[in-house]
Formats: sequence, C-alpha cells, structure tokens
Amino acid sequence: MAAIESSTSESTASDDAAGAGLPRDATGTDSSTPRGAGLPADGGLSADAFADQFLGAWLGTVDVMAAHLGDRLGWYRALAASGPLTSSELAHTTGTAERFAREWLEQQAGSGIVVVQERPSPSPAPHADEGAPGDDPDDLHPDHPRSTARTRAYALPTGHAEVLTDEASLLYLAPLARFVGAIAARMPQLLEAYRTGNGVSWEQFGEDAREAQSDANRPWFTQRLAPALAGLPAVHDALSMPGARVLDVGCGFGWSTLALARAYPQAVVHGLDVDLPSLDAARTAAAEEGLGDRVTFEHLDAARLEAAEPYDAAFAFECVHDLPHPVEVLASLRRAVRPGGAVVVMDEAVADEFSAPADDIDRLMYGYSLFVCLPDGLSTSPSAGTGTVMRTSMLRRYALDAGFTGLDVLPVDDFAAFRFYQLMH
Ligand SMILES: C[S@@+](CC[C@H](N)C(=O)[O-])C[C@H]1O[C@@H](n2cnc3c(N)ncnc32)[C@H](O)[C@@H]1O
Repeated sequence: MAAIESSTSESTASDDAAGAGLPRDATGTDSSTPRGAGLPADGGLSADAFADQFLGAWLGTVDVMAAHLGDRLGWYRALAASGPLTSSELAHTTGTAERFAREWLEQQAGSGIVVVQERPSPSPAPHADEGAPGDDPDDLHPDHPRSTARTRAYALPTGHAEVLTDEASLLYLAPLARFVGAIAARMPQLLEAYRTGNGVSWEQFGEDAREAQSDANRPWFTQRLAPALAGLPAVHDALSMPGARVLDVGCGFGWSTLALARAYPQAVVHGLDVDLPSLDAARTAAAEEGLGDRVTFEHLDAARLEAAEPYDAAFAFECVHDLPHPVEVLASLRRAVRPGGAVVVMDEAVADEFSAPADDIDRLMYGYSLFVCLPDGLSTSPSAGTGTVMRTSMLRRYALDAGFTGLDVLPVDDFAAFRFYQLMH
C-alpha cells in the first residue's frame, strides 16, 4: 500500500517536523543548531519539544479522520462540484445533518482544507425550511448568533479538490483517509491480535480497505504501468509476443491486469486473488472496458497455482509482503513461467536497512504494516509475517528459497513509493 511519491524519501527529519506544523527549532534540528545541541543526553527531545511533536501528529490525525468523513459522506465531491456551499446547502445536497456539516466545515476551514467565502449579507439559510436532519430552528433566525455560521459559505480550492476527489489523479489521496476508516472499525480486533499474535484478515478489514487499496494504485497502473514496462526491454519483449500469456497474482480489483491487457493487445492476461469481492469488482471493470475476451480472473491461492500451459510473464503487484507463504507463491511463479520469461515483483520502495529516524516512505510503510499488512499476514497460520517494510534483502532471500538465482532491481523510477524487481530463473 503506497500513495506518496518516492521523492519524499529525500526529506529529512527536520522536514518532517516542519511538515507537522512545528517550529523548525522545536526538535532541535534547524540548520543553525548543531544536531544534538541542547538535547537531553538520553537521545530524546525535551518534554516541551516532544509534546509539540506529538500534538502536531494529533492535528494531522484529526485532519485525516475528518477527511474520511468528507470522502465517505460525499462532502468533498459536493463542494468540488457545486461549491461554495453553506452548511445547510452541503447537508441538503448530500442528505446529511446540517449541524454536523457545519462543525466539519468549520474544522476544515480551520485546517486550511476548505476556504471561507463570506456571502454579502446574512440571510436565513436557503434550505432551512426543508428540515435537514439535525437542524435547530432557532439557528435560522438572522439575529441568532449562529446565523452567521449558517450563512457562511465554503469552497474547496481546485488543487485540494484534485487530491481529495479526482480518482484519476496521481495525487489522489482520499484513499489514505479510507484506510483510516477501515483501521478504526477494526481497532478492537487489532488490539486482540496484538495480544495473541493472531491477525486480522484482509476480508475483515472490508470494503473501506479494499476500495482504498484499489483507488490508491489505480491511477498509477492506468497511467504509468505501460510506459514503465516499455522501458524494460526483457519484460517488454516477453509481453509483446503474439498470444503472450500473462499472470497477475494478488490482482485485487484488477487495475494492473487491465493495464497490462490494454498495453499489450496481443496478450491474454489472467488475474488471481483469494478475495472474492475484489474479483467481482475486477470482472465488472473488465467487462465495462470490453476486455472480457482477453482478461480472466480466478479465485485461487497463488501458492496452489498449477499452470496448464507456461506463462510468458508473471507479476505480483504490491502483494508479496502480504502473503503468509511468499516463498511458496514465488516458487509457483517460477514453475509457471517459461524459461526466459519474466517474473516481476512490485513492492514498497523502503530503505535497504532499518534506520531511525526513518525516511517518510519507511514511516508510511510501518504505518500500513502496524495496522493492515502485518495483521493480515498473520491472520493465516503459519505465516512468514513479513509486514509492509519488506526490504530488498528479504525479497532476495524469498526468491533464492523459491529457486530463483537472484533478483535485479529494475530501472523504474517515479512510480509512487514502489520499487520493481525482476526475479532471475
Ligand atoms: C495489498 S493488495 C494488492 C492488490 C493489487 N495488486 C494492487 O496493487 O492494488 C494484496 C492482494 O493480495 C491478495 N492475496 C493475498 N494472499 C493471496 C494469495 N495467497 N493468493 C492470491 N492473492 C492473495 C489479497 O486478497 C489482496 O487483493
């Protein structure tokens, strides 16, 4: 699961502090202060500085949780399509409760996510008499102190709307907020898993997680996969063979499968997944795109794959770190692909080694790992228990154990926070 661009990995600990809205000297890391000067000898921050850092993190968490409301209630989409809107207009348009919409709009404006557009003169809210759920009739009188709050209009700036509502944009980040919804709903099970060592399955995380995953990667597969593969001669040649047989394991909603089929019109592409709702969504998307004749989806544990005919290329997009049995799955791919064919893994572009403080990509991936991928991996027993932070050395170990002779990191840059590997027969 990744949704930030790998360029963020070049940011530093002091960038992170600034990003959290903290004064640059709050962590003692501004450029005029020698690193470590004035810090407690135990390697931490002062209580004041750490409190600032933690409060900054809380403010960010609130914004992401509030974005989940805006995403799921259709508020961002309504503001993008019809803003500026008052709280009554927003509630009316989306069938939601005005009092909650008003609180949310004020929070969003306070955080700089929406902007206020005052209307010339306070007047009763346009949809006041329509009795939206949560309306308080007293608030509607122009002399009531709340009437200003009711007549204030809010707009979602264009750039913000792209990030929060444009599913086709590489900058679309609403799926991050949707992951928070999935995680919050499973917090009791997560706490139990942390006590027992048992996990929480992908199926248990449900629709929010599935859709978040699908929507986060969709624009990258749709826009960037074809050019990325065209720049990899060995992979491109395998895919370009007339009638090429292509496998996509852990295909989820199938956006990678469809992107492969679109880019290589002579290929037949076969997606596998263990999650039935994901496969239903993938089949629907294939039919809608008219690719049903060359794209098939199958409900199958990739570790159990027995290919009747060899494949020319196989892909595992952002799933190896989730697999309870990664070596068995990679061994299936090795057997399924003809000698000289291509086996490609796309997974998180984490650092080669653990470091603390970590860069943004490692921090992001530890977040997914704590709350989704590691619990999912451990929901099967036994399990490799890889977690999202699968470093190159770990994947190399899995590949060697699966009978490959090694792996190459492929020259695919600027593909979200992903790295591409080719496993060598
Ligand atoms: C993080 S999602 C990635 C989905 C998709 N490849 C993408 O990049 O958006 C991992 C996917 O692997 C699937 N999966 C997990 N274990 C599997 C297995 N043993 N065989 C096939 N698919 C599996 C899950 O159901 C899920 O759809």
